[in-house]
Amino acid sequence: MANNKILFILGAGPNVATATAKLFAAQGYQVALVSRGTSTSFDPSYFYIQGDLSNPEKIPEWFAQVKKKYGRSPNVVIHNAYHVFPAHPQNPLSLNLGQLNYDLAVNFTSAYLAAQEAVKGFETLPADVPKSFIYTANGLNMMPMPRLVSLGLGKTALGHVIENATLSFQGKGYTFYYGDERLANGDFASGAISGMAHAERYWELSQDPKQRPWMDTFVAGQGYKEFPKV
Ligand SMILES: NC(=O)c1ccc[n+]([C@@H]2O[C@H](COP(=O)([O-])OP(=O)(O)OC[C@H]3O[C@@H](n4cnc5c(N)ncnc54)[C@H](OP(=O)(O)O)[C@@H]3O)[C@@H](O)[C@H]2O)c1
Repeated sequence: MANNKILFILGAGPNVATATAKLFAAQGYQVALVSRGTSTSFDPSYFYIQGDLSNPEKIPEWFAQVKKKYGRSPNVVIHNAYHVFPAHPQNPLSLNLGQLNYDLAVNFTSAYLAAQEAVKGFETLPADVPKSFIYTANGLNMMPMPRLVSLGLGKTALGHVIENATLSFQGKGYTFYYGDERLANGDFASGAISGMAHAERYWELSQDPKQRPWMDTFVAGQGYKEFPKV
């Protein structure tokens, strides 16, 4: 059983976050969550912060709140929020500045700052505690869709940050992942996305101190599967 280990999920909703929080809590983890609180209610034993990731400047404050609550920084941090203003299907350059900035804030900037705060916390934790940052992503970094350009932009950019982090923090015992559930044939999981498959995958990845391929394309029930760029 985990001893004073903490999971922090930013962008908590009914699917991935609910299943992941439940699985980690069953393994003895303390759980902290952030969302705007538009629909989901969570287990009252979790530390819940109502917040909006389109205002990423609040992120350091939320990490400080989690540390104050549990007396330690989170050792597993998951960014799971997303937003997309659809662009015109024939024109990925049709978004206005406000739409572009909003989607970048939710999909990219908030995740960059969460990873930054996660690493600051990792530096304070004992060596034997697993330390992992996981970004819930999708296949848009390999399979572009003009209508979802601002979602793919955020996913692709954060994937780039994750790849860089794996290079720079090598040997420190921190791991960084771009979690991308696919169908067995490599298509987007899309509406078939499985909260439980994410929970199981994120548990396995986060508990292994060894960095695996940062772009974790996985299939529910099968685990990691490499897919070619199409
Ligand atoms: N692999 C694939 O093909 C695939 C398919 C679908 C989704 N995904 C990815 O999976 C992730 C989420 O999926 P999910 O099924 O877990 O969705 P979900 O259950 O709806 O959880 C996401 C939660 O994020 C919260 N959120 C959204 N905007 C926020 C903001 N500005 N500030 C704070 N919280 C915010 C929402 O809660 P509130 O409304 O209460 O804030 C929402 O419930 C996304 O990263 C998405 O891109 C991947």
